[in-house]
Amino acid sequence: MIHSFPKHPVLHVTFLCFVFSLCSARTVQIGDICSKHDNPSSCNTIILSVPGAIEGVDIGSASLYLINTAHVNAFDTITLISEIIRNSSDAQTKQRYSSCTMDYTDVLLALTQAKDSYSSGNYSDMNFNGAVVTKDVKDCDTKAYDSDQVRIDNQYLADFSMIIMILADFLAGKY
Ligand SMILES: *[C@@H]1O[C@H](CO)[C@@H](O)[C@H](O)[C@H]1NC(C)=O
Ligand SMILES: *[C@@H]1O[C@H](CO)[C@@H](O)[C@H](O)[C@H]1NC(C)=O
Repeated sequence: MIHSFPKHPVLHVTFLCFVFSLCSARTVQIGDICSKHDNPSSCNTIILSVPGAIEGVDIGSASLYLINTAHVNAFDTITLISEIIRNSSDAQTKQRYSSCTMDYTDVLLALTQAKDSYSSGNYSDMNFNGAVVTKDVKDCDTKAYDSDQVRIDNQYLADFSMIIMILADFLAGKY
Protein backbone atom coordinates (compact mmCIF):
# COMPACT_ATOMS: atom_id res chain seq x y z
CA MET A 1 0.00 0.00 0.00
CA ILE A 2 2.76 2.37 0.99
CA HIS A 3 4.68 1.74 -2.24
CA SER A 4 1.83 3.00 -4.37
CA PHE A 5 1.87 6.30 -2.45
CA PRO A 6 5.54 7.25 -2.35
CA LYS A 7 5.06 10.92 -1.50
CA HIS A 8 3.21 10.99 1.81
CA PRO A 9 2.66 7.37 2.80
CA VAL A 10 1.47 8.05 6.36
CA LEU A 11 -1.02 10.64 5.24
CA HIS A 12 -2.44 8.34 2.59
CA VAL A 13 -2.74 5.38 4.92
CA THR A 14 -4.57 7.56 7.43
CA PHE A 15 -6.83 8.77 4.66
CA LEU A 16 -7.56 5.20 3.54
CA CYS A 17 -8.32 4.23 7.14
CA PHE A 18 -10.79 7.01 7.37
CA VAL A 19 -12.53 6.38 4.05
CA PHE A 20 -12.43 2.61 3.67
CA SER A 21 -11.78 1.43 7.23
CA LEU A 22 -8.65 -0.25 5.97
CA CYS A 23 -6.57 0.65 9.01
CA SER A 24 -6.87 -2.81 10.48
CA ALA A 25 -6.24 -4.62 7.20
CA ARG A 26 -2.83 -5.88 8.14
CA THR A 27 -1.75 -9.48 7.84
CA VAL A 28 0.62 -10.93 10.43
CA GLN A 29 2.21 -14.37 10.44
CA ILE A 30 0.69 -16.71 13.01
CA GLY A 31 4.19 -17.61 14.22
CA ASP A 32 4.91 -13.95 14.98
CA ILE A 33 1.81 -13.78 17.16
CA CYS A 34 2.18 -17.14 18.93
CA SER A 35 5.90 -16.73 19.67
CA LYS A 36 4.77 -13.98 22.09
CA HIS A 37 2.26 -16.29 23.79
CA ASP A 38 2.83 -18.31 26.99
CA ASN A 39 1.32 -21.36 25.29
CA PRO A 40 2.33 -21.19 21.60
CA SER A 41 0.71 -24.49 20.65
CA SER A 42 -2.69 -23.55 22.10
CA CYS A 43 -2.30 -20.12 20.50
CA ASN A 44 -1.66 -21.78 17.15
CA THR A 45 -4.74 -23.99 17.40
CA ILE A 46 -6.96 -21.07 18.40
CA ILE A 47 -5.73 -18.77 15.63
CA LEU A 48 -6.09 -21.48 13.00
CA SER A 49 -9.80 -21.54 13.91
CA VAL A 50 -10.13 -17.98 12.58
CA PRO A 51 -11.81 -18.11 9.16
CA GLY A 52 -9.25 -17.53 6.41
CA ALA A 53 -6.24 -18.13 8.64
CA ILE A 54 -3.54 -20.17 6.95
CA GLU A 55 -0.05 -18.90 7.69
CA GLY A 56 -1.13 -15.42 8.51
CA VAL A 57 -4.21 -13.62 9.75
CA ASP A 58 -5.67 -10.20 9.26
CA ILE A 59 -5.18 -8.84 12.77
CA GLY A 60 -8.30 -6.68 12.68
CA SER A 61 -10.81 -9.33 11.67
CA ALA A 62 -9.02 -11.95 13.80
CA SER A 63 -9.40 -9.66 16.83
CA LEU A 64 -13.13 -9.30 16.30
CA TYR A 65 -13.60 -13.00 15.65
CA LEU A 66 -11.64 -14.03 18.75
CA ILE A 67 -13.37 -11.51 21.01
CA ASN A 68 -16.77 -12.77 19.80
CA THR A 69 -15.78 -16.42 20.17
CA ALA A 70 -14.39 -15.79 23.67
CA HIS A 71 -17.73 -14.19 24.54
CA VAL A 72 -19.65 -17.27 23.38
CA ASN A 73 -17.24 -19.57 25.27
CA ALA A 74 -17.57 -17.50 28.44
CA PHE A 75 -21.33 -17.73 28.17
CA ASP A 76 -21.11 -21.53 27.87
CA THR A 77 -18.92 -21.64 30.98
CA ILE A 78 -21.48 -19.58 32.91
CA THR A 79 -24.10 -22.17 31.90
CA LEU A 80 -21.84 -24.97 33.12
CA ILE A 81 -21.18 -23.16 36.42
CA SER A 82 -24.93 -22.65 36.96
CA GLU A 83 -25.41 -26.38 36.50
CA ILE A 84 -22.72 -27.14 39.08
CA ILE A 85 -24.41 -24.75 41.52
CA ARG A 86 -27.80 -26.32 40.87
CA ASN A 87 -26.43 -29.86 41.27
CA SER A 88 -24.59 -29.24 44.50
CA SER A 89 -26.18 -29.49 47.91
CA ASP A 90 -23.15 -28.07 49.71
CA ALA A 91 -23.47 -24.40 50.67
CA GLN A 92 -19.72 -23.77 50.50
CA THR A 93 -19.50 -25.26 47.01
CA LYS A 94 -22.47 -23.19 45.85
CA GLN A 95 -20.79 -20.09 47.21
CA ARG A 96 -17.48 -20.79 45.50
CA TYR A 97 -19.15 -21.27 42.14
CA SER A 98 -21.45 -18.26 42.61
CA SER A 99 -18.31 -16.25 43.05
CA CYS A 100 -17.03 -17.73 39.75
CA THR A 101 -20.25 -16.59 38.09
CA MET A 102 -19.43 -13.05 39.20
CA ASP A 103 -15.93 -13.37 37.77
CA TYR A 104 -17.45 -14.50 34.50
CA THR A 105 -20.01 -11.69 34.48
CA ASP A 106 -17.00 -9.40 34.64
CA VAL A 107 -15.40 -11.37 31.80
CA LEU A 108 -18.44 -10.75 29.58
CA LEU A 109 -18.29 -7.04 30.40
CA ALA A 110 -14.55 -6.86 29.68
CA LEU A 111 -15.03 -8.64 26.35
CA THR A 112 -17.82 -6.24 25.37
CA GLN A 113 -15.52 -3.36 26.27
CA ALA A 114 -12.63 -4.95 24.36
CA LYS A 115 -14.87 -5.04 21.30
CA ASP A 116 -15.86 -1.39 21.72
CA SER A 117 -12.21 -0.43 22.22
CA TYR A 118 -11.27 -2.32 19.08
CA SER A 119 -14.02 -0.57 17.11
CA SER A 120 -12.97 2.86 18.34
CA GLY A 121 -9.28 2.13 17.73
CA ASN A 122 -8.39 2.40 21.43
CA TYR A 123 -5.95 -0.52 21.36
CA SER A 124 -4.39 0.14 24.75
CA ASP A 125 -7.85 -0.18 26.27
CA MET A 126 -8.41 -3.34 24.23
CA ASN A 127 -5.19 -4.74 25.73
CA PHE A 128 -6.29 -3.65 29.21
CA ASN A 129 -9.61 -5.48 28.86
CA GLY A 130 -7.80 -8.61 27.71
CA ALA A 131 -5.81 -8.39 30.95
CA VAL A 132 -9.04 -8.04 32.94
CA VAL A 133 -10.31 -11.29 31.40
CA THR A 134 -7.05 -13.04 32.33
CA LYS A 135 -7.32 -11.87 35.93
CA ASP A 136 -10.99 -12.84 36.24
CA VAL A 137 -10.47 -16.41 35.01
CA LYS A 138 -7.49 -16.79 37.35
CA ASP A 139 -9.72 -15.69 40.24
CA CYS A 140 -12.35 -18.22 39.23
CA ASP A 141 -9.69 -20.90 38.91
CA THR A 142 -8.74 -20.71 42.58
CA LYS A 143 -12.39 -21.40 43.53
CA ALA A 144 -13.19 -24.02 40.89
CA TYR A 145 -10.44 -26.41 42.00
CA ASP A 146 -12.82 -29.40 42.01
CA SER A 147 -14.16 -28.99 38.48
CA ASP A 148 -11.78 -30.15 35.77
CA GLN A 149 -14.09 -28.82 33.07
CA VAL A 150 -14.32 -25.30 34.51
CA ARG A 151 -10.54 -25.25 34.90
CA ILE A 152 -10.07 -26.36 31.30
CA ASP A 153 -12.48 -23.60 30.23
CA ASN A 154 -10.58 -21.08 32.35
CA GLN A 155 -7.28 -22.02 30.76
CA TYR A 156 -8.76 -21.90 27.28
CA LEU A 157 -10.21 -18.44 27.90
CA ALA A 158 -6.91 -17.24 29.38
CA ASP A 159 -5.20 -18.44 26.19
CA PHE A 160 -7.76 -16.51 24.12
CA SER A 161 -7.34 -13.32 26.12
CA MET A 162 -3.57 -13.44 25.81
CA ILE A 163 -3.95 -13.58 22.01
CA ILE A 164 -6.37 -10.64 22.16
CA MET A 165 -3.76 -8.68 24.14
CA ILE A 166 -1.01 -9.55 21.65
CA LEU A 167 -3.23 -8.55 18.71
CA ALA A 168 -4.03 -5.26 20.48
CA ASP A 169 -0.29 -4.58 20.69
CA PHE A 170 0.11 -5.36 16.98
CA LEU A 171 -2.81 -3.04 16.19
CA ALA A 172 -1.25 -0.34 18.37
CA GLY A 173 1.93 -0.66 16.31
CA LYS A 174 4.08 -1.97 19.15
CA TYR A 175 5.32 -4.79 16.92
C1 LIG B 1 -25.86 -32.24 37.01
O1 LIG B 1 -26.66 -33.36 37.30
C2 LIG B 1 -27.19 -34.01 36.15
C3 LIG B 1 -28.16 -35.08 36.63
O2 LIG B 1 -27.54 -35.90 37.60
C4 LIG B 1 -26.05 -34.58 35.33
O3 LIG B 1 -26.54 -35.20 34.18
C5 LIG B 1 -25.13 -33.45 34.92
O4 LIG B 1 -24.01 -33.94 34.22
C6 LIG B 1 -24.66 -32.66 36.15
N1 LIG B 1 -23.92 -31.51 35.69
C7 LIG B 1 -22.77 -31.13 36.20
C8 LIG B 1 -22.12 -29.95 35.58
O5 LIG B 1 -22.21 -31.70 37.12
C1 LIG C 1 -9.12 4.66 25.83
O1 LIG C 1 -10.00 4.13 26.79
C2 LIG C 1 -9.73 4.49 28.13
C3 LIG C 1 -10.69 3.75 29.05
O2 LIG C 1 -12.01 3.89 28.61
C4 LIG C 1 -9.86 6.00 28.27
O3 LIG C 1 -9.55 6.37 29.60
C5 LIG C 1 -8.88 6.66 27.31
O4 LIG C 1 -9.05 8.05 27.37
C6 LIG C 1 -9.15 6.18 25.89
N1 LIG C 1 -8.12 6.71 25.01
C7 LIG C 1 -8.41 7.31 23.90
C8 LIG C 1 -7.24 7.77 23.09
O5 LIG C 1 -9.57 7.50 23.52
